[in-house]
Amino acid sequence: MSAKSNVVILGFMGTGKSAVGTRLADQVGKTFVDMDAVIEARAGKSISRIFAENGEPHFRALERALVQELAQGADQVIAAGGGVVLDPRNLDDFRRTSVLICLKASPQKILERVAAQTHRPLLEKGDKARQILHLLESRRPRYDAIEHCIDTTDLSVDEVVARAAEIAMNP
Ligand code: S3P
Repeated sequence: MSAKSNVVILGFMGTGKSAVGTRLADQVGKTFVDMDAVIEARAGKSISRIFAENGEPHFRALERALVQELAQGADQVIAAGGGVVLDPRNLDDFRRTSVLICLKASPQKILERVAAQTHRPLLEKGDKARQILHLLESRRPRYDAIEHCIDTTDLSVDEVVARAAEIAMNP
């Protein structure tokens, strides 16, 4: 087994991590894990309810514990939550066993993709476009520091999957 048999898909909300991760996992024959879905299933409630009832720090602690657990596993394609980059220990842990790929998209494209959705508490605090610009700006250095990035703005999901598969094979 290679030391880095996992692939972790990172990136801002609405960059297509789950859609790309599912198909990539099929293509490369690894197990798909969606971090937000695991957190929701274990907590027995939605991310929005976790934020509302327990607060963001509690959500980040659940996320941190899950990173530590998944980083010990093998042969997974992991769609990380957009905020996993906020704690540098998360990337350090994943890097030991995983190839890291960051998906990017323009703020306009992100807005188009998330406009009709209501399940992301950080984008429900007022004007979505402003929230996206503000969060993207504050997180940009963290996403930019990831070794492999794909700009998905003008690509189809299949095109992104093809590029991600190439990176996963030859990191
Ligand atoms: C978050 C992104 C969300 C989810 C939570 C917080 C973030 O995941 O983990 O709402 O801080 O960027 P997606 O990136 O899958 O939407």
